[in-house]
Amino acid sequence: MGSPRVLPADGDLGEASAVLRTGGLVAFPTETVYGLGANALDARAAARIFEAKQRPSFDPLITHLADAADLEPLVGPVSPAVAALAARFWPGPLTLIVDRPAEIPPIVTSGLDSMAVRVPDHEHARRLIAAAGVPVAAPSANRFGQLSPTRAEHVVRGLGAAVDMVLDGGPTRCGIESTIVDARGDHPVVLRLGALPVEELEKVTGPVTVRPGSSGQPVAPGTLAAHYAPRTPLRLVSGAGPVGAGRGYLAFRDRPAGDWAAVEVLSASGDLTEAAARLFDALHRLDAARVTEIVAEPVPDTGVGRAVNDRLRRAAATWDPAAHEQQV
Ligand code: TXA
Ligand code: MG
Repeated sequence: MGSPRVLPADGDLGEASAVLRTGGLVAFPTETVYGLGANALDARAAARIFEAKQRPSFDPLITHLADAADLEPLVGPVSPAVAALAARFWPGPLTLIVDRPAEIPPIVTSGLDSMAVRVPDHEHARRLIAAAGVPVAAPSANRFGQLSPTRAEHVVRGLGAAVDMVLDGGPTRCGIESTIVDARGDHPVVLRLGALPVEELEKVTGPVTVRPGSSGQPVAPGTLAAHYAPRTPLRLVSGAGPVGAGRGYLAFRDRPAGDWAAVEVLSASGDLTEAAARLFDALHRLDAARVTEIVAEPVPDTGVGRAVNDRLRRAAATWDPAAHEQQV
């Protein structure tokens, strides 16, 4: 598969920004997960993202900006709710839907008139985008449908030489993707649960509707029933489930009884933020442990726990026809 060049994210970003400007792909850390970046003004560079990820062309990308002040110069005036959310939560794990400006080629948004945009809360991601001097389209840096990368090693293992350069910034802080909100109309709609809890959004906007998976066209990757999937079949249980040799267990806070081949505890202190930060890393490790099945328990369904449970349900839906029907 070959290997990409790996450079430290906290070093000089001149070369990385030049790769972006000349149409290449640079994977970089954000506070959520690693992104696979390309110049969002360059249709051919964006096309390379879809190729590298083996991502269906109907699945639009998120455009990343270095600073909230860069939004209106790019997209023009936004709705008061979008402006308020950007002012409160950027830089941060919130993606907002705006109208696609003419400078952004349609391939970036899969032909939609709307565009997803965010300012990541990561010093080196923002330095990279600023140095490139262009908006950066970046999906999570994994092959389509697979586990999101929270470490540079995950990117290298998953994408190999399909990416030109990887910036290593260590493990990401939030560990799950941004929350996606469409606040263009009168009533904000959450299109993807993510690292910014719904409760926090509602402090700014009042009640929101949570409707992941029903954004119509686009069929959002993170909103497909089967997504975020380890290679190993994953079963979501509450209460008693299958026990056994050969299986791995993903626990929220307490180690399970029984004879498991591998166990990952997301947060021994029961902290949901820590659990979210460790989720994909734990799944990557259970996958690598070559267990026959991963048995996972849901976490408390509050705050960022809702986004964790959302990821677990979708990972389980890959192989469980019942869960699949439930989610579609
Ligand atoms: O935290 C994140 O958001 C990470 C980091 C790298 O920023 N990025 C990320 O990108 O998760 P990706 O491509 O894995 O997920 C982007 C999601 C998809 O569900 C996509 O369908 C949705 O954003 N999306 C993009 N443009 C959209 C649009 N115009 N309307 C509705 N959903 C959109
Ligand atoms: Mg993704």
